[in-house]
Amino acid sequence: MPAITFTLNGKPTQVDADPDTPLLWVLRDTLQLTGTKFGCGMSLCGACTVHLDGQPIRSCVTAVSAAAGKKVTTIEGVGQARVAQVVQQAWERLDVVQCGYCQSGQIMSAVALLEKNRKPTDTDIDDAMAGNLCRCATYVRIRAAIHEAAKALA
Ligand code: FES
Ligand code: FES
Repeated sequence: MPAITFTLNGKPTQVDADPDTPLLWVLRDTLQLTGTKFGCGMSLCGACTVHLDGQPIRSCVTAVSAAAGKKVTTIEGVGQARVAQVVQQAWERLDVVQCGYCQSGQIMSAVALLEKNRKPTDTDIDDAMAGNLCRCATYVRIRAAIHEAAKALA
C-alpha cells in the first residue's frame, strides 16, 4: 500500500493505506484518534467533522488520499488554537453537552465558523451548523455557546 503523508494536529504523519480509505477510518483505526465519531458514513450527520487545511470536512466521505500534503486537525488537536480554546470554554460554561456523541463534530464546525466570522448572526450559525445533527437536540445551547465564544473573542 502506498505511504500517504500529511500534517496531523501539527505533526508530520505517514500512513500506509489504500488511497480510497475514508480518512475517518485512518484517524480512528490506524492512528487511534477516536475523538472523531462515526455516525452515518454518508455525509449526513457531521459526527466525523475534522478540518482539512482549516475547512470543515466530513471525514467519513473523504478519501485519505485527499489529505496528502495537507493539514488535518481533529478534536484532539484543535485546542492548540485560541479560537478552539474559547469555544471549548463556552461549551463548558453553558453545559452544552448531553450524551456527547455529536459534540466533537459540533465543536469542529463551530471553530471553523468563528475562525472566519468573529461576529456570526443566528443565521450564520444555523447555516454553518446545519450539517451537524444532534439527537439530544442541544441546538439552542450550541447557538448560545457560539455567541458567547464570539463575544469572548471580540
Ligand atoms: S459519519 Fe460522517 S457525516 Fe455522518
Ligand atoms: S449531545 Fe447527544 S447527540 Fe448531540
